[in-house]
Amino acid sequence: MKLLNCLLVVILFLVPCSSAARISPKKVLQVENLLKRLNKMPQKSIKSPDGDIIDCIPTSQQPAFDHPLLQNHKIQLEPSVYPEGPFDDKRVKTSKSTEGLKPIKQLWHLNGNCDEGTIPIRRTKKADVLRAGSIKIYGKKIKNVNILHTNSTEPQYDPPNYNRHEHTIAYVHGDKYFGTKATINVWQPKVEQPNEFSISQIWVLGGQLDDHLNSVEAGWMVSQHLYGDNNTRLFTYWTRDAYQSTGCYNLLCSGFVQINKEIALGASIAPVSSYQGSQYDITILIWKDPKGDNWWMKYVNNDKVIGYWPGSLFTNLADGATAIEWGGEVINLASGGQHTTTQMGSGHFPGEGYTKASFFKNIQVVDGSNKLKFPEDVQTSSEQPSCYDIQLQNRQGGAFFFYGGPGRNPKCP
Ligand SMILES: *[C@@H]1O[C@H](CO)[C@@H](O)[C@H](O)[C@H]1NC(C)=O
Ligand SMILES: *[C@@H]1O[C@H](CO)[C@@H](O)[C@H](O)[C@H]1NC(C)=O
Repeated sequence: MKLLNCLLVVILFLVPCSSAARISPKKVLQVENLLKRLNKMPQKSIKSPDGDIIDCIPTSQQPAFDHPLLQNHKIQLEPSVYPEGPFDDKRVKTSKSTEGLKPIKQLWHLNGNCDEGTIPIRRTKKADVLRAGSIKIYGKKIKNVNILHTNSTEPQYDPPNYNRHEHTIAYVHGDKYFGTKATINVWQPKVEQPNEFSISQIWVLGGQLDDHLNSVEAGWMVSQHLYGDNNTRLFTYWTRDAYQSTGCYNLLCSGFVQINKEIALGASIAPVSSYQGSQYDITILIWKDPKGDNWWMKYVNNDKVIGYWPGSLFTNLADGATAIEWGGEVINLASGGQHTTTQMGSGHFPGEGYTKASFFKNIQVVDGSNKLKFPEDVQTSSEQPSCYDIQLQNRQGGAFFFYGGPGRNPKCP
């Protein structure tokens, strides 16, 4: 009888027996409602070789417009201006050692494209939501909390513990910033546990952590928790209350407005760099449109604007950002007094250099007159330099750095 029950559950809900057996009917209904809300009716769907389904959704029906603040939002199809500056990619002479980088593609393009007037959205599967352990936190950044048990209807949390997120970053603060551009070397770091992640990204921050920090973020990440595999994926993120209750990754809540039909947020990118082999990168530009409050994001590799975070989402970013950060972040959930073996960047220390350690290059900031310029007084920070470290070159202008590491090693037991 027990087996029959279990089989029935499997047939009905298409999830593994072991977890399905613990899911209440109420939760099943909640999950289905969430999926209905997130997965809009596609004009067509494309199956990606990595198992994702990419839905082509009419641009005006994307999740952004479910947001109460965006009910009367008029979609903006392009930014009014781009940041200008002498430092666009063609004119900047990159250091010799990093020439010959190759562009990156998204896997799903092997099997099709979205038509004009639609945008590609990675379909959320039931298993994606169930892995989150809670409807409320699906797609959110688990910042100060860790999921302990997912066997109850709602997970129970650890007390906040900032130390479990480890950052290795370069940053600027003390001025007003209206955007940033950077080229990020792309790797596939090993992530030890499903609830850990390894991210390499840009943060554009307004306000303080304890006072409704606003943040827009973009880069690449490996997160089994969010995606169910170890692929390297392009992502965006936003919050206006220091990661507490607002915001999410990609289009997993309403907020970010996408206008581009070629790039799917949360989709895998390939190929990735290999140790002493070919190197790949993504170049991301985020900036505030001086006409209007929107923060735009451009994927510079394809010369494509992806979309924007409407200014109405934010409070402390309205008159510019107060800090910008570039670098890596991992979650360390290892127990027994040991550090996790989850890697950051390439999993190798900065001292190893090009084709071995991961890097950020061509780092620029957008100033109050919408010009790109090299940042001044770039600082660095690493909470556990014996686990993950950073080496900055050219502190004044043309900032470039290697960062990352293996996590657990003889100096980081
Ligand atoms: C749920 O997990 C907790 C902590 O691991 C455990 O004590 C409890 O027995 C579990 N309950 C069920 C129904 O499995
Ligand atoms: C992801 O990587 C971890 C650690 O290397 C491994 O244990 C796990 O099986 C991988 N998961 C998938 C879905 O490939």
